[in-house]
Amino acid sequence: MGFLEKIFGKSPEKEQNKMENVKVAIIYYSSTGTNYKMAKWAEEGLKDTGAEVKVLKVPELAPKEAIESNDAWKAHLEETKDVPEVTLDDLEWADAYIFSIPTRFGNLPGQVKQFLDTTGGLWFNGKLANKVVSAMSSASNAHGGQEQTILSLYTTMFHWGAIVASPGYTDESIFAAGGNPYGTSVTVGQDGKMQENVEPAVKHQAKRTATVAEWVKNGNR
Ligand SMILES: Cc1cc2nc3c(=O)[nH]c(=O)nc-3n(C[C@H](O)[C@H](O)[C@H](O)COP(=O)(O)O)c2cc1C
Repeated sequence: MGFLEKIFGKSPEKEQNKMENVKVAIIYYSSTGTNYKMAKWAEEGLKDTGAEVKVLKVPELAPKEAIESNDAWKAHLEETKDVPEVTLDDLEWADAYIFSIPTRFGNLPGQVKQFLDTTGGLWFNGKLANKVVSAMSSASNAHGGQEQTILSLYTTMFHWGAIVASPGYTDESIFAAGGNPYGTSVTVGQDGKMQENVEPAVKHQAKRTATVAEWVKNGNR
């Protein structure tokens, strides 16, 4: 019996074959590519699970001059121009949301907050209740506010009545990624390189979120 099974009685991996009717929206905002990469790893983590997955970007709102003056930002927007923008219909469609967002002064990027602030109608009609969510983040410094960013996002999720499926310490990969139990987070240097090995933790988090969504949707048999 493995580590997870001893603690929780079942392993997420064994749940995968039940995920056929689980829909997952991986929603990210990224200026320079880190969170896009994490979103793509989350997508890879769900490959072969049977879950239906969409990777969606939060619309850019920054003024053109700000983007034009930053080569990495400009290049990233060009590279991802074909990624569909998240819509309210996507939120209604999905059973689970996995967010990946950078830290901005220890908080959410304005672009993400603006999108969340368009969800009032869905919330009012109870359409966001019981969605299963988890979040990931990045910042330039190891203690630059990643945890606070994730928790700030979760505050809105709590208002939605969503069910937060934080990773906790449910897999060894979380320790190698820096041990953030709220959601996978990474430190990204000025050179754009990630400093911790977070790919396995991202994939674990994605599978766990989809697994919990499956339990909520179909009952934890
Ligand atoms: C306006 C602004 C505020 C930022 N605030 C923080 C911060 O509070 N702490 C930190 O470590 N990094 C901070 N950063 C760095 C970003 O978090 C970092 O560039 C980002 O995580 C990279 O993600 P991306 O490549 O997906 O855009 C800030 C960057 C910007 C542009």
